[in-house]
Amino acid sequence: METKVFEKDEVAQAAALIKAGEVVAFPTETVYGLGADATDPKAAEKVFQAKHRPADNPLIVTVAGPEMVAQFATITPAAQKLMDEFWPGPLTIILNILPGKLSMVVTGGLQTAAFRMPANPLTRQMITLAGRPIVGPSANISGKPSGTRPEHVLHDFDGAIAGILDDGPTTVGVESTVIDMTVTPPAILRPGKITPELLAPVIGEVQSDHHKVGAQETPKAPGMKYKHYAPSAQVVIVDHPADFPAALKWAQRQGQPFGVLATDDLLTDVPSAVPTYSLGRDVTSATHNLFAGLRWFDLHPTVTVILAEAFGQEGLGTAYMNRLNKSAGNDHFDPDQPA
Ligand code: TXA
Ligand code: MG
Repeated sequence: METKVFEKDEVAQAAALIKAGEVVAFPTETVYGLGADATDPKAAEKVFQAKHRPADNPLIVTVAGPEMVAQFATITPAAQKLMDEFWPGPLTIILNILPGKLSMVVTGGLQTAAFRMPANPLTRQMITLAGRPIVGPSANISGKPSGTRPEHVLHDFDGAIAGILDDGPTTVGVESTVIDMTVTPPAILRPGKITPELLAPVIGEVQSDHHKVGAQETPKAPGMKYKHYAPSAQVVIVDHPADFPAALKWAQRQGQPFGVLATDDLLTDVPSAVPTYSLGRDVTSATHNLFAGLRWFDLHPTVTVILAEAFGQEGLGTAYMNRLNKSAGNDHFDPDQPA
């Protein structure tokens, strides 16, 4: 099939494909998503096939506004507060669903579902024109870094999906915060731009359980549990900027071609023959660039090791490190290891 690229003024054509049961990739402020009619199990099924996604990993239901959620789930007062405060925005809210309203294909057989109202106006317009919510997993083949640019989506899905709504690069760069509002206290299942510090003033205490989402992604392969977002090369995390000189020496000694993924300050000390990808200047730009960088190294297949810069586990740094640790399978450079 030919994958049609829709520009800003062609949202109606993208919406028509959704209505016809086809898969259309869409932009959000976090990453691109793979959209299909969430009320049509056959359409949702196509998304699982395109992504090679395990059938028991539930899909996010992407809505144009809270009134669309009310058709499928019970909105508790606390959930309402979150929607008032953070929607549209990078927060996905898990709620108890009304029996029989959503297909098992979408929910993975659970009595709950994840709802998200993205900030991107084109995408909300597409959903409104289609007149129904769309499923919205990240636009990447399962296990690979999520697509943050239209070219990433086409790299993974050109010829396999009906269309893509093109709105350039996303802004945040990592997926939304996922909060489970069906447990007490509410639990953050995936860290994102909306941090516990932002959530607590609105709904009180929240717990962090970053493992549940990952556990659901690969329920039958525990060994793979922590490796997602993985490029072909092995990612090795360098925890402190001061460790970079030792890490560069270690990588040179291995005799394997390696690359570096780091902010501009650190890249100035990397030998010019070493392939590098800039994370920009701080944790915000690093989060924006992370998946693009990991994908860039996949296009340089001679690199077998990527030294990657760490950030502190605070604010957006928690989301950045969560994704980086998964891409590295938790492999950190040990400055004390013997040569
Ligand atoms: O930023 C985002 O959230 C992007 C954009 C496209 O909206 N979407 C996204 O979808 O990241 P996905 O499917 O790649 O990640 C959603 C995560 C999955 O790990 C899934 O297991 C979890 O949310 N999830 C979905 N429904 C759930 C439920 N009812 N209970 C627990 N986890 C759920
Ligand atoms: Mg994903």
